[in-house]
Amino acid sequence: MSRRILTGMRTTGRLHLGHYVGALDNWLKLQHDYDCFFLLADVQALTTHFDRVAELENSVKQVVIDWLSVGLDAQRAAFFLQSAIGEYPELTVYLSMLVNMGILERNPTVKEEIRDHGMGTVNLGFMMYPVSQAADILLFSPSPEDVGSELLVPVGEDQLPHVELCRDIASRFNRQYGNIFVLPEAKIGLVPRLGDLNGSQAKMSKSMGNAIYLSDSADVVREKVRQGVTDPQKMRRGDPGRPEICPIYSYHEIFNVDNSLTLAAGCRSGNLGCVDCKAKLAVALNQKLEPIREARIQIEARPDVVSQAIWDGTERAHVIGRETMSKVRAAMHLDYRRLKGT
Ligand code: TRP
Repeated sequence: MSRRILTGMRTTGRLHLGHYVGALDNWLKLQHDYDCFFLLADVQALTTHFDRVAELENSVKQVVIDWLSVGLDAQRAAFFLQSAIGEYPELTVYLSMLVNMGILERNPTVKEEIRDHGMGTVNLGFMMYPVSQAADILLFSPSPEDVGSELLVPVGEDQLPHVELCRDIASRFNRQYGNIFVLPEAKIGLVPRLGDLNGSQAKMSKSMGNAIYLSDSADVVREKVRQGVTDPQKMRRGDPGRPEICPIYSYHEIFNVDNSLTLAAGCRSGNLGCVDCKAKLAVALNQKLEPIREARIQIEARPDVVSQAIWDGTERAHVIGRETMSKVRAAMHLDYRRLKGT
């Protein structure tokens, strides 16, 4: 019985708190119960970074360092590079025949990204990345005959439309060519969507410049929190505030749970001023981040561990990728290799 996890992240730079509470926290909990494959989505990163390729190698390393620093175990889980798996582009092309263009144009995450990145024109690679993401996932499908097998995709809420599309593609494929794929299940993290400290509706994002990174120093965290937005009606200490609309308070609810009710009461009564409240949040965040920072120092001193994690993981993942792909080719009557020597 195979219980597999396939999930991943675009390698476009260091990871932030949104990644932590939306995804990594979940990966950490699940890594011991599943065979995990964590994808370094460097090809998907090209959809927006094709003109900045010189940055990508460093981004891949930063993501691996972040993964290791939070406690993901590269011995158990395979960390692997999308660009090194030649089966991916092949599977993407085959799957693309099963997808209508309209579905991609209506994909809410694709639309939101186009808006947030201010993309004037959209390249084809970007438009079809949800299909390649379906290939990312399905290449790791266990066999449906294997009773009790699972393919779990722990991701942030924004990725749900992609997992839905992937399920749709998998069932179309199975109907058209035979039962090859298990339908993947999404699993959303505790905090589906972390807002930013300025209270804008945008989620915390690398591209919007409002993120607290896992690798930020304690001082930088304090400064970013200090600049965060609170209830605009609470001008000074003594004024009653409304925690339910305060971005800083929403962070207390996630990162400072034990004290959040007391803080809310202080805010409402006016006893607690925003400056103090922010200082408390910075303390809570720094407490959470400190062990991650310490681990990071150790890992940064060992670049060999980072490359080892990537290459070991990529080799392990590739074995599965080759297996699945030969099943796919056979199902699609594309296994002409078998004619050799007949
Ligand atoms: N789209 C994901 C992100 O933006 C990265 C990703 C690529 C992914 N392939 C995946 C996530 C497969 C889950 C499964 O970070």
